[in-house]
Amino acid sequence: MAFDIKSLIQARLGENYDLHDRHINRALVKVLRTIGFDKVYARAEGAYLYDREGKDYLDGLGGYGAVNIGRNHPVVKKAIADLLAMDMPNMVQMDCSILSGLLAEALLKRFPPHLNAVFFCNSGTEAVEGAIKFARCATGRNKLLFFDRAFHGLTTGALAMNGTGMFLEGFGELLPSKAIPMDDLAVLEKELATREYAAFFVEPVQGKTVKYPADDSYYQQAQALCRKYGTLLVTDEIQVGMGRTGKFSSFEHWNLEPDIVPIAKSLSGGLVPCGAILTRREIYDKTFSRMDRCVVHSTTFGRNNLAMAAALATLQVMDDEKVVENSARMGNALIDGLKGLAAKHEFIKEVRGKGLIVAIEFQEPKSLRLRAAWKMIQAAEKGLFAQAVVIQLLKDHRVLTQVSARHLEVIKITPVLTIGQKEVDRIVNAVDASLAECYKFPGPLWEMGANLVKASLSVKKST
Ligand SMILES: Cc1ncc(COP(=O)(O)O)c(C=O)c1O
Repeated sequence: MAFDIKSLIQARLGENYDLHDRHINRALVKVLRTIGFDKVYARAEGAYLYDREGKDYLDGLGGYGAVNIGRNHPVVKKAIADLLAMDMPNMVQMDCSILSGLLAEALLKRFPPHLNAVFFCNSGTEAVEGAIKFARCATGRNKLLFFDRAFHGLTTGALAMNGTGMFLEGFGELLPSKAIPMDDLAVLEKELATREYAAFFVEPVQGKTVKYPADDSYYQQAQALCRKYGTLLVTDEIQVGMGRTGKFSSFEHWNLEPDIVPIAKSLSGGLVPCGAILTRREIYDKTFSRMDRCVVHSTTFGRNNLAMAAALATLQVMDDEKVVENSARMGNALIDGLKGLAAKHEFIKEVRGKGLIVAIEFQEPKSLRLRAAWKMIQAAEKGLFAQAVVIQLLKDHRVLTQVSARHLEVIKITPVLTIGQKEVDRIVNAVDASLAECYKFPGPLWEMGANLVKASLSVKKST
């Protein structure tokens, strides 16, 4: 029988969660079923996902930042289809392919001129791994410095710079590294002065907390300190690059001149895995220092044609559709709209963000009646109130969002960057209506909170 992907999907769609429960990640299936996120999405376009009945879901996750130009963008699809039809040689390895050369050229044009050499890989964490190796090789130092609450990926090198304990449990000893608080230059200088650090890794806008330094001059001063003590500054743009914060790269907000920049996720429009490391030529050449070291760092699929073509098309779309400008404009509209809700809902502590990475932080309400319910949830696990709101947003409004991290009462919203006012209004109205439910006590939202408490307690008991 001829292979036909369409009929295979048609015949089996709907078995998703059973298949995963049987063969893939059971714990994830359990979570998705518990919070009612076990939807079967059948189609996706732009900012929306559609289920089998054709109901639309506004995607406020954007594939964790992997689909900035919108899902299934026709220009990227066409580039991939055209390329496949050409039967180009791919991954010959002992050659230099045209598409990777062209992508390096196109990419570097979007960065300051001191960044003039590119290494291609397949994912964000792999770009971070390469950045670690380049930094160690260029400085001859071993240690890595990073922020509390940081996230740079989950392979063992990147994991050494993870600021959330839960991700580290069970994985043993990692690379030598140290977490420092944001906004404290004295602590930073004390560490850098040891001259033991190869690199200081920062997410200019931190993905887990959606925070950046309160002191606007912090990053410039941190950069100067890095230079003084010979530590390389790495700005991880994997999530907050590619237009997410309203600039092409988030480091542009502070006019930084990073030594190394890992990027990935949306680089290839969300259709083909792709990552890249941009750095200075002299840093690059310290790793590839001799002919016998020309593949001392490499990866089989790194420069593959499909990823390169998808990324070239993505960059063109970003220019043609003014995606970065739209991210800045719609980000402001979303932040303003949500800030407007803060006057109305005592649960909102703060709305913060840059461009279209936006967070809503919740706080204990003032009224006695609601405080008791809030405390009951907090006693079981901090963060469950935000989770209950996230559940409500999907259940009643078909708006897909996430809690920003465990134990934080923060919702994070990262839609595709091509949204318009209609999508902004839908998110703001959905948050407004979901929070309105919180005043009904007892009511469905608190009931959901109580169910989450039960689920959380049963997990704690079983571990
Ligand atoms: C800032 C940052 N760095 C690195 C990574 C890892 O990227 P990937 O999931 O492609 O390995 C992520 C993923 O969320 C990220 O947000």
